[in-house]
Amino acid sequence: MIKAVYPGSFDPITNGHLNIINRASKLYDELIVLVAISPAKKPFFSIEEKVNMIKDSVKDLPNVKVDFYEGLVVDYASKNNVQVLVRGLRAVSDFEYEFQLAAANRFINNEIEMVFFMANSENNFISSSMIKEMAIAGQDVSSLVPQMVTKYLKEKVKQ
Ligand code: COA
Repeated sequence: MIKAVYPGSFDPITNGHLNIINRASKLYDELIVLVAISPAKKPFFSIEEKVNMIKDSVKDLPNVKVDFYEGLVVDYASKNNVQVLVRGLRAVSDFEYEFQLAAANRFINNEIEMVFFMANSENNFISSSMIKEMAIAGQDVSSLVPQMVTKYLKEKVKQ
């Protein structure tokens, strides 16, 4: 049985992330979408909101689970018998960061393999920050994010 984890900030999840989740869920027996709590990032959504939005977005994928973790992703992986870390690559600009992250993860635990999925062309310009900026400015982002995210963004922007 091969277990994979797809970590990220997911602040919020976008159709770009969902595309990677759909594709990775076909390759592994179990895929855990992991909301990584990073002290370096000031989140827009709470952990609970992020987890709810992801759970609703993946409800039709039976082998996909959602979890959250504060600490190193590789530590989560070894505690939960995960063999693979999934990441997405949107552009050459992502490569350098991912290369460094992969090297750091390998330094910490070289038993865990990182696997990269190329983002599809429709989604490769999306980032969570861009989605938030557009939503705050009143732009309709419903074609770029799962349905529940549109709802949560509207509520957050109103507050
Ligand atoms: N579609 C759309 N957007 C995508 C995307 C895709 N396929 N892939 C990445 N992105 C965007 C995200 O929306 C995010 O945008 P933002 O910066 O505007 O919020 C950005 O790319 C970064 O992606 P993300 O996957 O959230 O990476 P991250 O750098 O925030 O998180 C972790 C990477 C999980 C390693 C980090 O959260 C972390 O620090 N984890 C814990 C500590 C750890 O293990 N560190 C590594 C070893 S030292």
